[in-house]
Amino acid sequence: MAVITSIADLRERARRRIPRAIFDYADGGAYDEVTLRRNRAALEALEFRQRVMVDISRLSVGTTVLGEPWSMPVAIAPTGLAGLFHRDGEIHGARAAAAAGVPFTLSTLSICSIEDVAGAVPQPFWFQLYLMRDRGFNEELIARAAAAGCSALMLTVDLPVPSVRRRDVRNGLSVPPRLTLRNLLDILTKPRWASGVLFGQRRSFGNLQRHMNNTGDLRTLAQWIATQFDASVTWQDIDWIRARWPGKLIVKGVLDAEDARQACAMGVDAVVASNHGGRQLDGAPATITVLPEIAAAVAGRCEVLFDGGIECGQDVLKALARGASACLIGKSFLYALAAGGEAGVRLALDILRRELEVSMALAGVADVRNVDQRVLRP
Ligand code: GLV
Repeated sequence: MAVITSIADLRERARRRIPRAIFDYADGGAYDEVTLRRNRAALEALEFRQRVMVDISRLSVGTTVLGEPWSMPVAIAPTGLAGLFHRDGEIHGARAAAAAGVPFTLSTLSICSIEDVAGAVPQPFWFQLYLMRDRGFNEELIARAAAAGCSALMLTVDLPVPSVRRRDVRNGLSVPPRLTLRNLLDILTKPRWASGVLFGQRRSFGNLQRHMNNTGDLRTLAQWIATQFDASVTWQDIDWIRARWPGKLIVKGVLDAEDARQACAMGVDAVVASNHGGRQLDGAPATITVLPEIAAAVAGRCEVLFDGGIECGQDVLKALARGASACLIGKSFLYALAAGGEAGVRLALDILRRELEVSMALAGVADVRNVDQRVLRP
């Protein structure tokens, strides 16, 4: 087996291990994937200043975000369907994050439920919420997250409607996965995945069992989201959530300075600057491009987290330099999970940490808390 030295290596291993439809769900973006490519291209285009003769013998990447100590400024983003990338994928992800000393965010659209993860991992995790039309069900989800000891609630606001992900349409992505003639051959060449996931116990949305019962006949994930998600959500709904969730509240999916100001005015604890990994508004800018505007609009009133194309530690350093206090990894997490379960995710976090340390050292910064725009060439 080839040596794994990067997230790209983990992606390649994931591609070989899991069915095409599942891999493409993580790997793809909306429509022509313009924004998906922009996220990467804009990160790659940024240049570091190489600085020398600075004492970096005591390097530190530890930081504090939302009052929690993190071993490095990286957290695991909420991703739907993680449990289809590896059996009990969300539990593996949460364990790897806990071992690495960083937060794990469980998606509303997870395969393992809130209670599954809370029962298997002693450390608190974050819960990501999508508001559904059934407000009673939202209330129930918030109460379940509180009962499970979740330490933050992350409301995703950039999916009032599902965008079109052409790869998913082509692959007929459905939850639970269907064993069709078309994908049978593909699955037969992935026996390890099939024995783990396909014949495992959990294959559908763990948090939504009660809800799925009357909606199980819809054929694709996008159709299901379109009928269940509440497209009428506005900033006023933050008050509705606040009345039910007294803990830390994070709003994910802000890509515009005006929205960032609005989020601050609603008193949220953090915003996640994000274009949903290029999976929603195709043609939107790369997150890293608008990050400085968002950070300026927020002006220290809440924390700014970054999400959008992080594939190496250098990317993390660039996002911090442009105003983020930490980064979330979505796609990189899913590749690692598919490649090797908990061990794969631990490895991914190790790789990112090491790359961040080396890059900081060569850019002449010893303490990650001191990173600012001077790390980059203007
Ligand atoms: C869900 O959040 C998705 O991007 O598929």
